[in-house]
Amino acid sequence: MDAYDIIAKKRDGRKLTAQEIDYFVENYTKGIIPDYQAAALLMAIFLNDMDQDETLHLTRSMIHSGDTIDLSEIKGIKVDKHSTGGVGDTTTLVLGPMVAACNVPFVKMSGRGLGHTGGTLDKLEAIRNFQTELSMGELIENSNRINIALCGQTADITPADKELYALRDVTATVDNISLIASSIMSKKLAIETEAIILDVKVGSGAFMKDLDSALELAKQMVAIGTGYDRETVAFITNMDQPLGNTVGNALEVKEAIQTLRGEGPQDLYELCLQLGAKLLLLAGRVQSKGDALSLLEETISSESAYRKLFDLVSHQGGDTSYIMNPDLLPKAKHIIDVKSRTGGFVRSLNAERIGKVALDLGAGRNTMDSSIDPAVGIVLNKKIGDKVDIGDTLAYIHSNSIDKAMQARIDIEQIYTIREEYTDPGRLIHAFVTKNGIKLY
Ligand code: URA
Ligand code: CA
Repeated sequence: MDAYDIIAKKRDGRKLTAQEIDYFVENYTKGIIPDYQAAALLMAIFLNDMDQDETLHLTRSMIHSGDTIDLSEIKGIKVDKHSTGGVGDTTTLVLGPMVAACNVPFVKMSGRGLGHTGGTLDKLEAIRNFQTELSMGELIENSNRINIALCGQTADITPADKELYALRDVTATVDNISLIASSIMSKKLAIETEAIILDVKVGSGAFMKDLDSALELAKQMVAIGTGYDRETVAFITNMDQPLGNTVGNALEVKEAIQTLRGEGPQDLYELCLQLGAKLLLLAGRVQSKGDALSLLEETISSESAYRKLFDLVSHQGGDTSYIMNPDLLPKAKHIIDVKSRTGGFVRSLNAERIGKVALDLGAGRNTMDSSIDPAVGIVLNKKIGDKVDIGDTLAYIHSNSIDKAMQARIDIEQIYTIREEYTDPGRLIHAFVTKNGIKLY
């Protein structure tokens, strides 16, 4: 077998075998196959696609390139939740404590934000002294004690994906559904939970801009998980506008705390209820969706989920006074409002562009090693469908630089489109995908 023949085969649109894919991935990760040959293969895959077998083989080869994480010492049925990336997506910080408060272990290895999308680890680090690095021992001990642990990767999982993803990023080969599906699923399957819930975002702020491609991505990921004998389901959810009202790290932690106290934005809470209900069902905690929803609602009314966040912060070394008093979270020097020059209803609020404004303010990273400012971001005062009068505040900019705040004000004024006619914000959840098919909402 050699790399040249494998590239030529895919170039000619033929199907690669498990052995060929494994050979390529293994030798690329070892540095034996050079970047230029891997780039050529990626482009051939991009142009000619892979079928379901090839996608599953690629996923398997990437999993085998690194460590896998055995969670069997954690009691109970473990369910992982993964979002394909959004703007202002604070779900994990709310959903995790709600599920843990229902006595279902919520153990999650999260990532950092890149580009216009945020990451849970960055949000948690807005809390003073919060440790996102846990050893395997700590992870297991915390999960068994308080049912929740949120941390970065504890071991070197899927190094092949890391290298291939970096190469795709510079060779215009990111946007292929099979490559995205195998990349995401290799990282999920390397962590041995019993079930996986995927939150596939669709809309202006997501990787997938239209429902058809989001459904295709969800179908492929569910097929990979199922092919790996892991119960896998996917929700397709709306990312035409940011989730909740805040975008930015400390601002989102504050929003999570408010939501856990029953005072958060409706869309964020609703998404947590729907994902949470499925999670409790998959974990065998309840028999019906109705039971799941009442249990979850009770974690909010009794504040048991809020106390769970407190336990999480305390067990991971963070300053719990930040949870009792969110005003202690890092604050920006300047808070500037963006006022509307017209009246009507908000028609659109492009999530990717809002994410980019937050990034420019310093809430995110342009490259893996740039640092972030936890205090800065955007608070949305109006969302799609809201009525606006002239002079109403559309959004607040939290910035540590006046110049950046002024630029953000210009950008945000342009991002909001306001029209005389009412626009319906649309569904929060578009579809649910299992191995048995698609249910449209
Ligand atoms: N996220 C990933 O982890 N991989 C992709 O290919 C795209 C998004
Ligand atoms: Ca938010």
